Amino acid sequence: MSFLGIDLGTSGLRALLTDDAGKTVHCAEVAYETAATKPGWSEQDPQLWIDALETVMLKLRDTVPHFDQLRGIGVAGHMHGATFLDRDGKVLRPCILWNDTRAADHAHHLDQKPEFREISGNIVFPGFTAPKLSWMAEHEPEICTKIAKVLLPAGFINFYLTGSYIADVSDSAGTSWLNIHSRDWSNDLLAASGVRRDQMPDLVEGCRPAGFLRHTLQEKWGFQNEIVIAGGAGDNAAAACGIGAIKEGQGFVSLGTSGVVIIARDECHPAPKTAVHTFCHALPNRWYQMGVMLSATDSLNWLSTITEHPPKTLTQMLPQELQPPGPITFMPYLSGERTPHNDANVRGGFFNISRHNNLVDLTKAVLEGVAFGLRDSLEALRKTGARPERLYAIGGGARSEYWLRLIATVLGVSILVPKDGDFGSALGSARLARIATTGEDISMVMTTATVAEIIEPDVHLADAFDEAYRNFVKSYGGYRGLTK
Ligand code: XUL
Repeated sequence: MSFLGIDLGTSGLRALLTDDAGKTVHCAEVAYETAATKPGWSEQDPQLWIDALETVMLKLRDTVPHFDQLRGIGVAGHMHGATFLDRDGKVLRPCILWNDTRAADHAHHLDQKPEFREISGNIVFPGFTAPKLSWMAEHEPEICTKIAKVLLPAGFINFYLTGSYIADVSDSAGTSWLNIHSRDWSNDLLAASGVRRDQMPDLVEGCRPAGFLRHTLQEKWGFQNEIVIAGGAGDNAAAACGIGAIKEGQGFVSLGTSGVVIIARDECHPAPKTAVHTFCHALPNRWYQMGVMLSATDSLNWLSTITEHPPKTLTQMLPQELQPPGPITFMPYLSGERTPHNDANVRGGFFNISRHNNLVDLTKAVLEGVAFGLRDSLEALRKTGARPERLYAIGGGARSEYWLRLIATVLGVSILVPKDGDFGSALGSARLARIATTGEDISMVMTTATVAEIIEPDVHLADAFDEAYRNFVKSYGGYRGLTK
């Protein structure tokens, strides 16, 4: 008997199976692409997600002993994406993703209405869901008239699994339509963006049951019992559940396509002026705050694509020991930036390159630029009173020990490396599935990850990186002027 966590990521879908005691027993993954048909656009056809889900489920059915005994499934998804369905549940256009910046003007327009920040607790960022609908109304009015439901990516998978429109509050907090205090849709915010409550899915807490797996899928995937589908979560809230960051002050750095610094909170005290995000956690009566940079491993992946060297080859070119900051500065704004700039139009750049520099120097500059971007997020969180001394590190980028040493030093915190195993969103959603199915106590299930290694800041380089960070911050204004 077991629980399955699905992580619908930006670059692929991952499934993680745990046993009854929460131990990971199997993982499977399928990659897919993002379409960037115009500068600043980022879309995915939801059919890609369904194909990936089917592939993974059939693989698990055919290879994992006792998979037929599964009891519960939880789904986490990349946040903010708008999937528009007609009244027959048919997808009307590709999903517009979290790192798509086409709706910047519409976001700005909504953000001018004070109720958005007051009720949703956040700036209306261009990547959030509400401005995407405003963009649709202007540019694709015919499609807009057919919209019967607006679902987030995880909500769309919940719909595929259960046949019902149901979403969890942690993911829904990133739409700009949720009252994050009362954890319910806000009629005022919905009305302010011309959308009706019946176009929204029903809400549920992430660790509560959202429904049961449809019979056709239960048969096709070979399950003996009824399968509970949990409310699920936005990917960052799910990752927090996976690492055990659920109580005030517990936090982590996630080095995925986006980079985030997250702190769990017992109370809801939004701080939109700082460009910090404040969202409902996937557990009742809890919240979390985070700074988000849009291009973390995405920056390294970009360098990898244009140089035709896999990211791992690039990071392995670096020496083992952390080096002092290099002369080259990388501005990690390939898709614009959220925290702290809220600037959809800024773009990335290298400066101070000399005739002698090579690919190793550029790689080092990219890792440093991302570390400085994360420090920006941490500084924004510090303005809310957060004082983390230790943060777990998760996500694909956390496999580079050099990067982790650099981040520990730039952030000035101890970095906790989880013991082998997977502590990302997939584990978090398997844990949500477990609680939704068994009703077990949250504190018994959402335990903190065992630490394999603690990476301390390099005291000899701390001052040099502090100065390099200050220069990075100072350069921004002039740099932004040049890129306009
Ligand atoms: C969070 C955000 C990203 C996505 C993709 O606000 O936009 O972290 O959830 O992971």
